[in-house]
Amino acid sequence: MCTGGCAKCLGATLIPLAVLCTLANILLFFPGGKTVEDSTHITDEVWYFGGIVGSGVLMIFPALVFLGLQNSDCCGCCGCRSCGKRFAMFSSILFAALGFLGAGYCFILSAVAINRGPKCNTGSDWNYPFNNGDYLGNHTLWDKCQSPKDIVPWNLTLFSLLLIMSGIQAVLCGIQAVNGLLGTLCGDCKCCGCCGGDGTV
Ligand SMILES: *[C@@H]1O[C@H](CO)[C@@H](O)[C@H](O)[C@H]1NC(C)=O
Repeated sequence: MCTGGCAKCLGATLIPLAVLCTLANILLFFPGGKTVEDSTHITDEVWYFGGIVGSGVLMIFPALVFLGLQNSDCCGCCGCRSCGKRFAMFSSILFAALGFLGAGYCFILSAVAINRGPKCNTGSDWNYPFNNGDYLGNHTLWDKCQSPKDIVPWNLTLFSLLLIMSGIQAVLCGIQAVNGLLGTLCGDCKCCGCCGGDGTV
């Protein structure tokens, strides 16, 4: 499990995911690809910025820290070469925890939003016509939303993407937390057996 650029890969994967989560959250502000006349017509969960803040901005910090671990003579998993970098590995645990919280926030928010369904114009007023995800298994119910056009598939697709991507982010941060812990505990790395013995990766 100790491969040289492992923290670097994690960091490099987190960045595109963060960008995509931010984009997905922004698109949710434009139901069906159109601007709304009234901001109260937008589903509440969109305003909690799960994709922009939780899986987006917050994720940049752990991603950059993970990317930088390789340059600090630590291979990222067990610090194979210079083994005095325990602190770098230790701090990566804190950043991994931060990333985990951000991704977890987006994940929970997306799950809640999928279960609750979108806010839409039901003919009489703007509210949430679905209960406990009943619309997921019954397309007939989708007709309850008269406008915006395609609001149900729009929100469902984007929140599902957010759910998947934030789930992946949470797992990646979890992996780095374990790597960071190993790096901190092992210190000189010999115990990890990830080096050829001469200290090279
Ligand atoms: C879907 O919802 C409609 C409207 O409430 C209902 O008449 C229909 O029986 C439901 N279909 C299924 C498969 O549950």
